[in-house]
Amino acid sequence: MALSKTLRPVILDVDTGIDDAWALVYAAHSPNLELLGVTTVFGNADLETTTRNTLCMLDLLGANTPVYQGADRPLLREWAGPVPRYHGDNGLGNATLPPVSRQAESQHAAQFIREQVRSRAGQITLVTVARLTNLARALLYEPGLAALIDRVVMMGGAAFCAGNVTAVAEANIWGDPEAADIVFRSGVPITMVGLDVTMQARLRREDLNRLDPALPYAKVLQDASEYYIRAYEQDSPGIHGWCPLHDPLAVAVADDPSLVGTETFPVRVETQGQRTDGMTIVDRRDGCAGTGAEVALTLDIERFLSVFRARVGMH
Ligand code: BDR
Ligand code: CA
Repeated sequence: MALSKTLRPVILDVDTGIDDAWALVYAAHSPNLELLGVTTVFGNADLETTTRNTLCMLDLLGANTPVYQGADRPLLREWAGPVPRYHGDNGLGNATLPPVSRQAESQHAAQFIREQVRSRAGQITLVTVARLTNLARALLYEPGLAALIDRVVMMGGAAFCAGNVTAVAEANIWGDPEAADIVFRSGVPITMVGLDVTMQARLRREDLNRLDPALPYAKVLQDASEYYIRAYEQDSPGIHGWCPLHDPLAVAVADDPSLVGTETFPVRVETQGQRTDGMTIVDRRDGCAGTGAEVALTLDIERFLSVFRARVGMH
């Protein structure tokens, strides 16, 4: 009799978003992950749009995974607004989207996270690929929750590389620094999948033609990704013909942690700085290494790309 494999139960927190859309495809097709639910937050677009896009992608994937809406703004600040330059006016590169077949559940994302984590204590991996507002809210309501979460795999931060919103800050941290700081201080085990590695995970224009055209999501993702690639090309003189796969890489690391090499450091988030707001401060002082967050610093690029292609349906 074949032994059944234990799946890793995950909740995916998104602000869909073009790279979030790829992350949803990756997660839905992973044979190692059990996707319990998807929670949504403001970020690349407003909450209504990120939720609609999430439902739309799940429809195209034929997945009935429940979706829970969360925060529509940062914990303490005004929202800086959507990011149409990178994600288009509709959050998916202005690709034509089919109408969605269902609505989000009525329960709030933070409440869903709390209930699931409590009911499966020590088992759940939270994969966050957006502002950390939903998780911070759950932890604020119930600080003991941190001890019940198996791990947070977070796309966010820039440890030893440049930021992408400011010189030092990455978008998911910069977009709600107080929330990110709460998460880093909570004691929850964290794998930080930041720009140090996500800028090495590259989707090339020619890869888009390798996507099986029969897949219901192929056209939306091809059009959206072309938009994303153009935005990166226009803004970054060093980028030609590719865009980073930030969010799918975090899902990939939850799926297979051996894809990245990590080092462990205390990490704090700057919330007061005039020029450094949202910076992830990684404490490399003598004696600090070994406690804190596991920070991804190296990536097995070829292995990641080969699994990515298989999961999303590229030949
Ligand atoms: C992160 O910011 C968002 O715009 C992307 O979806 C990704 O999660 C990259 O910095
Ligand atoms: Ca995102």
